[in-house]
Amino acid sequence: MGTGPVEAYLSSWLLRDDRPRVIVLGNEKGGSGKSTVAIHLAMGLAAAGLRVGTVDLDGRQGTFSRFVENRKRYAPTEQEAARLVFTEHRQISLSRNERDAEAVDEKLAQLVTALESLGDRHFIVVDTPGSDNVLCRAAHVLADTLITPLNSSFLDLDALVRVDRDASHISGPSAYSELVLFMSERRADMGAPPIEWLIITNRLPNVPTRVHRSVIEILRKLSQRLGFHFLPSLHERVIFRELFLQGLTVLDAAELGPTAATARPARQEVEALVDAILVRSPWKELAARRAEAGSNPRPKAPKKSAISFENWRPPRP
Ligand SMILES: Nc1ncnc2c1ncn2[C@@H]1O[C@H](COP(=O)(O)OP(=O)(O)OP(=O)(O)O)[C@@H](O)[C@H]1O
Ligand SMILES: [Mg+2]
Repeated sequence: MGTGPVEAYLSSWLLRDDRPRVIVLGNEKGGSGKSTVAIHLAMGLAAAGLRVGTVDLDGRQGTFSRFVENRKRYAPTEQEAARLVFTEHRQISLSRNERDAEAVDEKLAQLVTALESLGDRHFIVVDTPGSDNVLCRAAHVLADTLITPLNSSFLDLDALVRVDRDASHISGPSAYSELVLFMSERRADMGAPPIEWLIITNRLPNVPTRVHRSVIEILRKLSQRLGFHFLPSLHERVIFRELFLQGLTVLDAAELGPTAATARPARQEVEALVDAILVRSPWKELAARRAEAGSNPRPKAPKKSAISFENWRPPRP
């Protein structure tokens, strides 16, 4: 399959009436929080009672896919798995010979298969690697919503825009911003609405620094020029780093036990993020009805063993 037929397929897929809404996590700056946000957003939308598909385009690191494996391992039986929400997950795997020109075709074909198999979902959340390649470009063309996580430092800002030495003048967009604007135009050529570009400032310091304030100010100015909007931010919180190995998110309160209390501020941030995405989608009311009807009950975690030490305190001397 060459890129021509794939492009034709993507444009016809984009024009389908009943297709899922595609949310792509993208930023060519590595380590900005794409996978962390993708995981939490996807699980949050699934917890809101919606059908969610997830696609991991990062065949090399496969962070999202590793998270899914960890989650399945955490709840190995059907009964245990019923306590957690899951998404329909697809991994675009590396080709046996990555240098081979056919490797690109092979991965594009995998993406097409993934889209076909996830056609009944409300949302498809796509996690991308921090690099520019044909597969990432295809994902950006598909993005109804593009979420770019950004840490509040000049180095991270550089991934979006060039600023002069004293940060007083914006000299032009970065290669990534140009790519986003270009892909948005490609969508328009195909008859699809432009990309809705949303920035999420991630790992905000608890005490705002001068650099942080300066970056936020530049971003505000930039939002009009580049046409993006802001999502509620995430703060720097250890809990976002802690749960990966268990395959849990800060939303899995019932599983977190005593940690649930410390996870609450992080959970509120993720819930605000999920709400902001739901409000922009056609399924806000559906999610609200499901929450009201309790169609997505979150059963409490059963005790790990018949003898629980959870409430045990050492006897007073
Ligand atoms: N809000 C946060 N608080 C604390 N740690 C965070 C937060 N967001 C992300 N991290 C940590 O930052 C690191 C990078 O995050 P992540 O892997 O999600 O970024 P990425 O953009 O997907 O990276 P890559 O480009 O390599 O795919 C990880 O160690 C992650 O646990
Ligand atoms: Mg990642």
